Amino acid sequence: MAEPILALKNVTKHFGENTVLDDIDLSVHQGEVIVIVGPSGCGKSTLLRCVNALEPIQGGEIYLNDEKIDIKSKKLANLRQKIGMVFQSYELFPHLTVLENIVLAPTKVQKRKKEEVQQEALALLGRVGLLGKEGSYARQLSGGQKQRVAIVRALCMHPEILLFDEVTAALDPEMVREVLDVMLNLAAQGRTMIIVTHEMQFAKAVADRIIFLDGGKVLEDTKPEVFFEAPKTERARQFLSMFEFNVVKSQVEKVSS
Ligand SMILES: Nc1ncnc2c1ncn2[C@@H]1O[C@H](COP(=O)(O)OP(=O)(O)O)[C@@H](O)[C@H]1O
Ligand SMILES: [Mg+2]
Repeated sequence: MAEPILALKNVTKHFGENTVLDDIDLSVHQGEVIVIVGPSGCGKSTLLRCVNALEPIQGGEIYLNDEKIDIKSKKLANLRQKIGMVFQSYELFPHLTVLENIVLAPTKVQKRKKEEVQQEALALLGRVGLLGKEGSYARQLSGGQKQRVAIVRALCMHPEILLFDEVTAALDPEMVREVLDVMLNLAAQGRTMIIVTHEMQFAKAVADRIIFLDGGKVLEDTKPEVFFEAPKTERARQFLSMFEFNVVKSQVEKVSS
């Protein structure tokens, strides 16, 4: 198999006494879609933040291709450009239009030509169903639209890997689908992605591999059909059973309403 794009080797991360990532090994190959699931507080966001060197690690190494991601490295700004990240909250600049928000980093940081980036931005906005919104401001957009802009903004930097941290968690239910559809499309295009989500149906549909994180460890690293149908660990079974309860509960609500 080819070398991974991203490799975490024996990564350990503490916050004081709290060991959040405990000797984590994880490799992501070109075109792979990894979905990370696990209970709240198990370290999913921290893992993504360590990959982007937004958090220092206390042990182990993280490589993007063969470059070590080191919070002190002079090349860090350069490496970060290769890692696109979309968070739960969409922090678009309120005083800039959608197009200005998207074009900002590629022109300022990557010194690309404004016209070229604008063309690309408009094409990408079209692909996420937002053509015509390029002149709008964040306050004029719905949450789902803002998240789609945030995805376009990340794509316009031409990242080698995209990290998504619960990007639909703060959205109203009717907007979740439009954002998940964009991510499904990116997966179909062969983008390399790590996705943290609680949307289990989506995880099943999009993932090449599911990583189940709990107690600072990778307890499962397996194909979605194995993870959802026959997880190895009791912890994963317990975790999945909470979602079954939610399904049953919502069916009950439907019947009684
Ligand atoms: N900046 C921080 N300082 C101290 N503890 C933190 C910080 N960020 C996260 N933690 C702790 O690390 C653990 C993992 O958090 P997080 O990565 O946000 O979990 P998840 O995204 O899986 O819900 C939690 O116990 C959380 O309280
Ligand atoms: Mg989180």
